[in-house]
Amino acid sequence: MGKFQVMDHPLIQHKLTIIRNKNCGTKVFREVVDEITTLMAYDVARDMPLEDIEIETPISKMTAKTLSGKKVAVVPILRAGIGMVDGILKLIPAAKAGHIGMYRDEETLEPHEYFVKLPADIEQRQVFVVDPMLATGGSAIMAIDALKKRGATNIKFVCLVSAPEGVKALREKHPDVDIYAAALDDHLNEDGYIVPGLGDAGDRLFGTK
Ligand code: URA
Repeated sequence: MGKFQVMDHPLIQHKLTIIRNKNCGTKVFREVVDEITTLMAYDVARDMPLEDIEIETPISKMTAKTLSGKKVAVVPILRAGIGMVDGILKLIPAAKAGHIGMYRDEETLEPHEYFVKLPADIEQRQVFVVDPMLATGGSAIMAIDALKKRGATNIKFVCLVSAPEGVKALREKHPDVDIYAAALDDHLNEDGYIVPGLGDAGDRLFGTK
């Protein structure tokens, strides 16, 4: 079973409180989502493999560490996931970005994919799927289905706020996927919002309503 990790670093928790506040405007919301994602990426990348290379410093030759093995792809679930891409690219600038778009059928409430564009070598990459809210888990499950269908095998899911319902559903459907969250909240309300959550992450990132 993949791990479920709530990242309780004080900086992450402090910044999460800033964006949960309903009085936080779009500019600060966007900036702080970016900062939280960078702080999370530092730890999400903790098990990236290293290899030795020979280099020369201005003083002498040395054997030094460099990242090896799988390259990274950051894959936001549209639209809110876009707000988390740059925060990861700041630390892993060689990563490529893919995009997965989902819409929710108005009648069945089931998510469907409408757009998938991924790096050609996705099966060789360590994939970080990003979406600020893990609510029912429906979009995350479908996005990871879409990735696996196209050959991805090494997938981590990174969100800001999670609900117990979404964590359970995602772990049941994709037990191999590690889940990282800045918080595990209480529950989903009847409209599918996380309580206490932070509202609609897409609207708050992009200033829509
Ligand atoms: N999506 C959001 O943006 N917010 C929620 O609370 C749940 C899903």
